[in-house]
Amino acid sequence: MPLSRKPGGGEAARTACIRTFGCQMNVHDSDRMRRMLLDAGYAEVQRYEDADLVILNTCYVRENAVNRIRGHLGELNRLRREGRVKKIALTGCIGASDEAAELQEQYGIDLVLGTHNTYELAEFIGLPTMEETYTPELPGVEGQKSAFLTIMTGCNYRCSYCVVPRVRGRMVCRPLENVLGEVRRLVRSGTNYVTLLGQTVDAWRHEGRRFCDLLEAVAEEAPRVWFTTSHPSNMEDRTLRAIGERGTIVKKLHLPVQSGSDRMLRMMHRGYKADRYRRKIEVFREHVPDGTLSTDIIVGHPGETESDHEATLKLIEDCQFDSAYIFKFSPRRGTEAAGMQDVVPPDVVQRRFLEVLRAVEQSAFRRNQRKVGGVEEVYIRHGRADSGRAVGETWSGHAVHVDTDAAPGEYVRARIESAGPHVLYAGRPL
Ligand code: 5AD
Ligand code: SF4
Repeated sequence: MPLSRKPGGGEAARTACIRTFGCQMNVHDSDRMRRMLLDAGYAEVQRYEDADLVILNTCYVRENAVNRIRGHLGELNRLRREGRVKKIALTGCIGASDEAAELQEQYGIDLVLGTHNTYELAEFIGLPTMEETYTPELPGVEGQKSAFLTIMTGCNYRCSYCVVPRVRGRMVCRPLENVLGEVRRLVRSGTNYVTLLGQTVDAWRHEGRRFCDLLEAVAEEAPRVWFTTSHPSNMEDRTLRAIGERGTIVKKLHLPVQSGSDRMLRMMHRGYKADRYRRKIEVFREHVPDGTLSTDIIVGHPGETESDHEATLKLIEDCQFDSAYIFKFSPRRGTEAAGMQDVVPPDVVQRRFLEVLRAVEQSAFRRNQRKVGGVEEVYIRHGRADSGRAVGETWSGHAVHVDTDAAPGEYVRARIESAGPHVLYAGRPL
């Protein structure tokens, strides 16, 4: 198919097709992957032959599931030989199964992911996540309604499990004026949503100024601002207050806790105790009562005992997260944790994973229910795809599916009709 080229000889537009098999859980995972793809600049297409990247998000439950997937993989391989499809990814339950390695070899699959390491898809498609791609000279993406802007690279922490400090080196902060200049340039070119990025954005500091100064300055220039990801040790109360007070900052805080056990936090070298994290959250809830809070949690880090796990469940109960990224520990080469004893057996990790997931979904569902019936101003992030709904975001940071043809970057007002654990659903705009 003819690939359109951006004016100015930019990169060819990329397309992706996601095929979902199986249960509601898979539908949800596909939604998450879809958001990542759209954020990375892919357009979604419905037919394999139109796609640069095809993702088969699979299910293992039905008897002939693997055979069915083999049929799809065979066809995709043919399309790839003809030069139509470029990359193939296999995700979901079959990706996590014992057969995955054999399928990968036989069909030359480019990326195999299990059920809950979808963050690796983000890396694969070039979204700035774990390993960022920032060079100070690299301009942000112009002409897009929402843009990512890297304000710092690297990381000065040494978390036991993490490859980032090894691969990205120590923290380098971009000067304030440089950041502001780019924000202005983006806003002039039509951007109305700027997300500040970095491994520990709240550790940003430059010539006596700290992250909150930068955030407030950006919030003066851009109509809508968010930032990720933060480190609890750097998160200042005044930043939490600013989130509540400033009308242009999305009231959504992503603050990775990793574990609720002080023993594990020490082993991970996180530099804070669970109660200090709790106190931060109290401040956030006090100043941003209608805001959303998300976190990262690792289950099954080496040495994690049953009582450590219970401490994590307790922290989830206390903090009432609106969502969480839950990761099963995976040893990364060159990290301290990769060489640690007391590896947690996979069946135990799986059980703990599900318990953490259930605890988070309970609080998320409860909190989302409170939004039902209210009218929200929704920023459209992704326009309607075929039969589906547009995906937007409230000022409180909730993801909303809206029944509208509004384009990305527009605002609509709509009433929230129902809510699940992960998204709100709104009807036609008022
Ligand atoms: N195993 C599991 N999860 C990890 N993360 C980082 N490294 C690992 C690992 N080795 C998770 C952390 C981090 C998020 C981006 O990814 O929770 O906050
Ligand atoms: Fe840095 Fe720890 Fe975050 Fe890795 S997990 S980027 S080491 S703060």
